[in-house]
Amino acid sequence: MTLVIDNIAELVTNAPDLGERPLGIVENASVVVEDGQVIAIGPAGALADERLDADGRCVLPGFVDSHTHLVFAGERAEEFTRRMAGEPYDGDGIRITTEATRAAGRKALRASLDRRLVEAHRAGTTTVEIKSGYGLSVESEALATSLAAEVTTETTFLGAHVVPDEYRGRADEYTELVCGPMLDAVRPHVRWVDVFCETGAFDVDQSRAVLEAGRRAGLGLRLHANQLDHGPGVGLGVEMGCASIDHCTYLSDDDLEMLASSDTVATFLPAADFSTRQPYPDARRAIDAGVRVAIASNCNPGSSYTTSISFCIALAVRDMGMTIDEAIAAVTTGGAAALRRKDVGRLAPGGPAHLTILDAPSRHHLAYRPGVPLIWRTIGSDYQLPPTANTSQPIPR
Ligand code: NIG
Repeated sequence: MTLVIDNIAELVTNAPDLGERPLGIVENASVVVEDGQVIAIGPAGALADERLDADGRCVLPGFVDSHTHLVFAGERAEEFTRRMAGEPYDGDGIRITTEATRAAGRKALRASLDRRLVEAHRAGTTTVEIKSGYGLSVESEALATSLAAEVTTETTFLGAHVVPDEYRGRADEYTELVCGPMLDAVRPHVRWVDVFCETGAFDVDQSRAVLEAGRRAGLGLRLHANQLDHGPGVGLGVEMGCASIDHCTYLSDDDLEMLASSDTVATFLPAADFSTRQPYPDARRAIDAGVRVAIASNCNPGSSYTTSISFCIALAVRDMGMTIDEAIAAVTTGGAAALRRKDVGRLAPGGPAHLTILDAPSRHHLAYRPGVPLIWRTIGSDYQLPPTANTSQPIPR
């Protein structure tokens, strides 16, 4: 059975050989899909068994959300409200979510994870990375990572998110737990290891120990750093060959130089800066320095409770000095690079048919029409949606 998505006003492929550079844009196009794969891209009017009329809409590769914390229980609206009234963000609320997550059972955690995945799919995301980090005990981190592994292969162990209450003042001891029994317990479920290298979380030696232990266990490396201030995280992450250093709200000239001469991606999380009233990272400066960048949602109940990549794009264009094309690249090929993936984030024959169809004629509307439900339909994903999710119904015009 072949499907043609026809009458596409503007098709973003991210394959420069297929269309106008830099995003490989094809106008008045069709995409032919068979068994979940793109088999042809050409002018409108292609033939197939089934036809979806895009009716002049814009089609993009599905978004690659390379940083989320989707396994958690509870919410922290009160903390957000206090922040909006002037209280600073310091990450301390992570422990509140840890308490709620530990108290929730597998079934409740899975149900809320499923709801967030449906929400992300409706928002145009077709690849999602999921971190643990709200269990912070051997048992609870094993549960969180096993739930993440039930739905995606992009799973990350973040036992070193913060030091839990029962280890307060004993960060080195907790780091040993993370690097030993906790890592052993989560190992079957995860592809990546991550650590929050920041004042109030883990220092550079503890962070290095976690990354080294993860590497010995055969995991890929990621890092949270430079969210709340300048610090040594970028130097550590580049030295260790992390696939991505995430947040990067504060970057010095040295940080930029190190990133630019590495293959580590700087992943910006603008919805977290929005929700914590941090300054936005200067993406223009990073791109001009030659740094490879990504943008992700960072969906979590504390610093960034959104799955909306469109919102992140609008922030990046409005407040981070990015062009719309740079922002779109950052949430597609950029996210893919942050996960060291080449198969997602682009639309080309032979690749997966992961598509986002906008209820708009061009990609510019993603930044131009912030806050409106612009995703008309999302097709495909490499994560597991609940069988009851009705994601296939286009919204009528
Ligand atoms: O990426 N920076 C650390 N971790 C999360 C925040 C989690 C929370 O506040 O619950 C983040 O922003």
